[in-house]
Amino acid sequence: EIGMKLTTKILGKQIHYFTDVHSTNNEAKRIAMADAPEGTIVVAEAQNRGRGRMSRGWFSPFAKGIWFSVILRPPFSPAEAPKCTLMAAVAVSSAIQQVTGVACGIKWPNDILYQGKKIVGILTEMSAEIDVINYIVIGIGINVNIGQEEFPAEISGLSTSLAIEAGRKISRLDLLTAILQQLESLYTGVLANGFASVLGEWRSHSITLGQNVEVLGGTGNFTGIAVDIDNDGALLIQTGSGVEKVLAGDVSIRPR
Ligand code: BTN
Repeated sequence: EIGMKLTTKILGKQIHYFTDVHSTNNEAKRIAMADAPEGTIVVAEAQNRGRGRMSRGWFSPFAKGIWFSVILRPPFSPAEAPKCTLMAAVAVSSAIQQVTGVACGIKWPNDILYQGKKIVGILTEMSAEIDVINYIVIGIGINVNIGQEEFPAEISGLSTSLAIEAGRKISRLDLLTAILQQLESLYTGVLANGFASVLGEWRSHSITLGQNVEVLGGTGNFTGIAVDIDNDGALLIQTGSGVEKVLAGDVSIRPR
């Protein structure tokens, strides 16, 4: 069905659709290793071992969300890969606004939240050699039509869905179509002109910049004010002892 609606040239030219998988990222990596072309997507109605960042799971009930992965083969160095994840977050939050009217914000690097509750998670995985990317799999999970009472107790207070916030059922097909179109337009822009404008859009969607944050993992735990992202997509945090650069980790926003 999705194939019929798409006007994209790269993304979704090949679509692998499953009713049930462990994880669309696992399927996408398998297909990528078997030489799937750039732009191939893997979509599933349900995941029974959906994976999140930091070895967490991802709740992926049948037909209630969009659980999918995109294979990219960008012609640049592995160091640029984190910015592809920021690009995906911008594409998804723009498409959500366009299709549902819900104005979400991005928490660094790529969680999409509405009033502090999570709607979208993104998990990017890469296969690379020293200076070239073999493939990047960008896995995107969107809580679309999940009712508040359906979330497992551990995440219920932290999660919401587009249907809850928009007050109506949302078409997964329309949203996925819009995301692929947004993502392709950002990606072709990056290939032609670099990441500067994506980073600019990321800043304007950000709910992290200007906030007091606590960083866990990566270079250790500390708190400070998130002042900007740099050209690598790293978060810059002003602490009592100078500016810390965070390339990977978990950031929580701590009201002052
Ligand atoms: C996170 O917020 O921790 C990231 C969640 C990523 C979930 C998506 S759903 C599609 C893809 N397949 C997975 O197993 N995970 C990602």
